[in-house]
Amino acid sequence: MTDIFDFSPKVDDYAVMGNPISHSKSPAIHAQFAQQTKQAIQYTAIHVDLGGFAQAVGNFTASGGKGLNVTVPFKQEAWALADERSERAERAGAVNTLIVKDKKIIGDNTDGIGLVRDLTENKQLTLKDARILLMGAGGAARGVLLPLLDQQPAQLTIVNRTAEKARDLAEAFADMGKVEACGYEALAGQSFDLIINATAASLQGALPPLPDSLIAEGGACYDMMYSSEPTPFMQWCRQQGADKVYDGLGMLVEQAAESFYLWRGVRPQTTEVIEALRRELI
Ligand code: ATR
Repeated sequence: MTDIFDFSPKVDDYAVMGNPISHSKSPAIHAQFAQQTKQAIQYTAIHVDLGGFAQAVGNFTASGGKGLNVTVPFKQEAWALADERSERAERAGAVNTLIVKDKKIIGDNTDGIGLVRDLTENKQLTLKDARILLMGAGGAARGVLLPLLDQQPAQLTIVNRTAEKARDLAEAFADMGKVEACGYEALAGQSFDLIINATAASLQGALPPLPDSLIAEGGACYDMMYSSEPTPFMQWCRQQGADKVYDGLGMLVEQAAESFYLWRGVRPQTTEVIEALRRELI
């Protein structure tokens, strides 16, 4: 029987869709944000079969869902499916956040701003006038380029195993700032204030071929991956004598915080959430 006097607080539905999804930390992160900001939301993880993304989004919005996070391998499909896109999503060619508004689906990408906030606010690094090396030219690299260039670095070099892909990417962003591209062999003799690993190498336990002296004095290294153990790239950075060496856990929480802000108009605090995740990871 339906209770016509339903005074229970209205709870808005959000979810993350991906494949695989069981490992996702997003439900735990958003539950902490919701508790902290006293927002009445429910956030679940939805496993979506390959080829079933559009249908899954349709079902979710039809049942009143207010917003989605989208992860591997559906970010490009989410980009194509959105009725409207932010400029950063447009440029990224990928969408990790969908906002349901007035029967429209708006696509955004919070990965890049998540990285930049982690670097500038949590790690207190200055990106303006810095020499930045971005390793990788796939979706992960593309997704963070615009927010990085917005910080006006002195130089941003994209390095990739397949140098041609790095060149294509640099060309696509040439109007946004000073972007260069090269293969790993061309790095000899160069040094950078910040090196960001956006390759899939850490996933395979591999390390791209990096020359000694790549890290400038006092320079920082950031792997967009995270795990309980330092990645091969992070280990290499420490062997090179760098003491500012970070993984991507902060970026994960910051991109989630930006999605939460887009949906709810409230910006959650991230420090405690990052610390809690770190404790769980160890
Ligand atoms: P993602 O969406 O995670 O960026 P992707 O589009 O498949 O995934 O891109 C993977 C990136 O990691 C590419 O830049 C790839 O280099 P290539 O374009 O030359 O393939 C890079 N990559 C993967 N494994 C690597 C390795 N062992 N060493 C160096 N780069 C690697």
